[in-house]
Amino acid sequence: MKILVTGGLGFIGSHVVVELQNEGFEVIIIDNLSNSSEKVKDGIVSITDTQPVFENLDLRNKESVQDFFKRHNDLSGVIHFAASKAVGESVENPLLYYENNLNTLIYLLQEQQKIGKGNFIFSSSCTVYGQADEMPITEANSVKPAESPYGNTKQIGEEIIRDTCKVSKNINAIALRYFNPIGSHDSAKIGELPIGVPQNLIPYITQTAAGLREQLSVFGDDYPTPDGTCIRDYIHVVDLAKAHVAALKRLIEKKNKNNYEVYNIGTGTGSSVLEVINAFEKVSKQKLNYKIVDRREGDVISAYADTTKANKELGWKAETSLEDALASAWKWEQKIRG
Ligand code: UFG
Repeated sequence: MKILVTGGLGFIGSHVVVELQNEGFEVIIIDNLSNSSEKVKDGIVSITDTQPVFENLDLRNKESVQDFFKRHNDLSGVIHFAASKAVGESVENPLLYYENNLNTLIYLLQEQQKIGKGNFIFSSSCTVYGQADEMPITEANSVKPAESPYGNTKQIGEEIIRDTCKVSKNINAIALRYFNPIGSHDSAKIGELPIGVPQNLIPYITQTAAGLREQLSVFGDDYPTPDGTCIRDYIHVVDLAKAHVAALKRLIEKKNKNNYEVYNIGTGTGSSVLEVINAFEKVSKQKLNYKIVDRREGDVISAYADTTKANKELGWKAETSLEDALASAWKWEQKIRG
């Protein structure tokens, strides 16, 4: 079965390509290399011994998308990652985010609509919940006004898919709301490659430990949490990748109850920033240089998933501990700096 993975050379996309190939799917990657490198393909091949088809194509170009679907009219599914993901950049340049993240989604869905059917997996985010009133967060929690244009593209993206599925009954879609993806493949052949100064906690930690950054800033220790630092649900990227395969199979095997469904994808466990630092120090056997600074604007206090729905309906569960996930991130960092 042929699966299109857009953004398949990116951090999450590349791990999903590996899991798909491990399960015998034939993969076509579309990536415009705006935040990735063609070398990632070598890592994928080295892990799976299988060459995915790669097309350097910009999904913002509608004609290119139409042409692609003409050439590939036998797809069993589309997993759509290609998108911009930096919260701060989205505040500076909202139109870029709306164009990159929404036009591309619309063009892909239009092609599926033309065919009259399709299986579609969308990469959404727990950011749609904002600061939820209750923890852990279930899918029944309300969607809150987005804090950033990036977050808004995930909310609007979900709405676009929901509305499309309402009228196109043979398009089946699942939106996966990721919590915080971290770590890398255990082989350390693929992993996260942040460009410039990392915005996310784990790459900042590993780059500090590797000596690339002087010191980690912990954004606030006066939150109403047990140790005062924010709580998140850090999920190993390979576990996250497996959730995509489970969601895709649900659609292919027609096990879905509705033609548009959403699932939280996390571990179900919340960890504070200081807990993450302690766990990292334990697995890397070194002290991390960090200091407490002011809160970062836009951070929610706490966000961790209730994963009951995904566990039951997708038959999927996160299996990797925080320590093992951090160890994989550290192994990857050492490899790319080595
Ligand atoms: N943090 C620090 N120092 C840093 C970086 C992060 O203390 O240098 C803290 C943050 O304040 C937060 C936690 O570490 O408490 C996690 O921060 P990340 O930036 O790694 O992750 P976020 O939870 O802020 O962001 C993630 C995704 C976004 C998504 C958001 C939704 O990266 O794409 O979740 O909540 F929009």
